[in-house]
Amino acid sequence: MSFYFSPAKVNLFFRVLGKRGDGYHEIASLYQAIDLGDELKVELTQERDILVCQNSQLPCDSSNLILKASALFRARTHLPIYAKFSLLKTIPIEAGLGGGSSNAATTLWALNELCDHPATIEELKSWGQELGSDVPFFLSQGTAYCTGRGEILEEIEKISSLEKMWIVKPSYGLSTPKVYQTCAACLFEPRSPKEALAGFRRGSPQFFNDLEIPAFKLIPELQKLKEQLRVQGFRTVTMTGSGTAFVCVGDIEPENIPEVSCYPVSWMRRERNTWYSRSH
Ligand code: C5P
Repeated sequence: MSFYFSPAKVNLFFRVLGKRGDGYHEIASLYQAIDLGDELKVELTQERDILVCQNSQLPCDSSNLILKASALFRARTHLPIYAKFSLLKTIPIEAGLGGGSSNAATTLWALNELCDHPATIEELKSWGQELGSDVPFFLSQGTAYCTGRGEILEEIEKISSLEKMWIVKPSYGLSTPKVYQTCAACLFEPRSPKEALAGFRRGSPQFFNDLEIPAFKLIPELQKLKEQLRVQGFRTVTMTGSGTAFVCVGDIEPENIPEVSCYPVSWMRRERNTWYSRSH
């Protein structure tokens, strides 16, 4: 039996560059893993996969990315490997924090480790993109500039941590496809993602997210929450991914807002050949 930490991610900036012929959107974004995450227990078994999760909002059937990742691992390695997965869910869902993708990547890593490494990390990344655009990122070392539909990674060295950082999540969520569908009617500022990346590298970060425009169109309350958080004194309040969570930066503690959860977070990275661990 083994335990694996399954971290969330934030997007420090997020550009939507256009819609592609295959229905996806071309993006350019700086992704960073954070120390808010789920706990995945994996026990190899003989015959079939089982997923147990205490969160009743999550499906535990074959539609769950953990079971999809396990089936994919079996298909690609031709190994008759099954497992019982027990998931302790902490990452808020429909938040833009990549929880499902992280669970899928963690499953691929865990099975590969428990089976004595039949696949390389590059193979795991390549299999992961079949499960979702964000899955390869979670197999990076924790900081990556992601392009294409999000699956093309450029590993980035450690970016210096900012002052205190919080994830702020309202009780309502947003579906990723719905947010992307709403992009069609939106005009985005033509900012250069390469310049944004350079800004983070030299320590003068500019957070932004093009997906705030469609998300705010879908849920106008979300824009009001952003303004409320700015008024509280946060220097930066930027939505992550397709929402509805915000990354808030500033040397203050968030004030209580009804129906809104706040989590203090830090950047997280992993060493090559080791998985993410809270003790690092
Ligand atoms: O890749 P993933 O399965 O996470 O994507 C979920 C949905 O989000 C896609 O089916 C697509 O509608 C939308 N999407 C997109 N452009 C991206 C990533 C996702 O339009 N770069």
